[in-house]
Amino acid sequence: MKIKEAQTWAIKKLRESQIEQPEISASLLLAEILSVAKSYLMLNPDQLLTDNQEKKYRSWVLRRMKHEPVWYITKHVEFCDQDFVVNKNVLIPRPETEILIELILNQVKNKKLKIKSPMQILDVGTGSGAIILTLAKQFGDYSSNDSEKSSTNNSSHLSSNNKYYASDISDKALQIAKKNADNFNYRTKILFKKGNLFEPWENKKFDYVIANLPYVPSDKMSELSLDILNFEPKIALDGGKNGLEIYQTFLSQATDHLNKNGRIYCEIGDKQGPNMTKMAKQFFPKSQVEVIKDYGGFDRVISIQNS
Ligand SMILES: C[S@@+](CC[C@H](N)C(=O)[O-])C[C@H]1O[C@@H](n2cnc3c(N)ncnc32)[C@H](O)[C@@H]1O
Repeated sequence: MKIKEAQTWAIKKLRESQIEQPEISASLLLAEILSVAKSYLMLNPDQLLTDNQEKKYRSWVLRRMKHEPVWYITKHVEFCDQDFVVNKNVLIPRPETEILIELILNQVKNKKLKIKSPMQILDVGTGSGAIILTLAKQFGDYSSNDSEKSSTNNSSHLSSNNKYYASDISDKALQIAKKNADNFNYRTKILFKKGNLFEPWENKKFDYVIANLPYVPSDKMSELSLDILNFEPKIALDGGKNGLEIYQTFLSQATDHLNKNGRIYCEIGDKQGPNMTKMAKQFFPKSQVEVIKDYGGFDRVISIQNS
């Protein structure tokens, strides 16, 4: 079978199974099997697949036809230009979450934060570790690339001496986060702990607390696409009644864990800004609260600055 024939077959099969954008899945899976970029497929339509490649492609397409996400099939995904291992025990890191990262990096770069260095940074509900590893890498990179600038303009937040912490209620998710940390060579830079919200961090305070906790309202879970509903972990998605139950407990505990001038950043659902702001004001009455929208104009991140 040639590349072009394999793709045509896969697209037809995926379309019959109502997979959205079948062309994308067909190309991603084939490119992964051949270890090439997607553009290679277009440039080499007549290349023949080996028997093993064809067999593997057919079995992967069959899995995709049952709505298994491409990234669980290939076992890795790109997030903020870095490769992360994923499996069914972790949420696949989303492009929306990159907004959270961008926001934090911009604020740090623009020195909008009055935090002493080194910073204590916690990621609650770390899943694959995408957030904490990206931040550790970015802060580390800035400090090595801009070390001269850092020392002269006093951008001390960019110091690679920052301390990184991450926790999750799921042991299996933590195993993946640790694997990713190994792949980044960051295993010793991040302290991972298992536990419910702030439980693992008794008596510990942080300058930055970042959380992308479950926020889908329980009664809306059944409206999720089959890719998500049948494959991604429910514990990573279901936010209880109105979607903000876990965040409510999180904020109530966060009051004991945030340093002066510290910040909390949470990813939220597209219409949850007002309710989340109300809750943030209840637990942090003197804080500055801001809802940041995504590129589609929907609520996406809430930032809370402690006074
Ligand atoms: C939406 S996923 C986010 C994963 C990752 N941070 C990301 O952005 O891709 C939520 C994560 O929170 C974890 N989680 C759910 N409830 C939790 C709780 N009560 N305490 C700690 N972690 C929790 C889940 O296991 C899951 O890994």
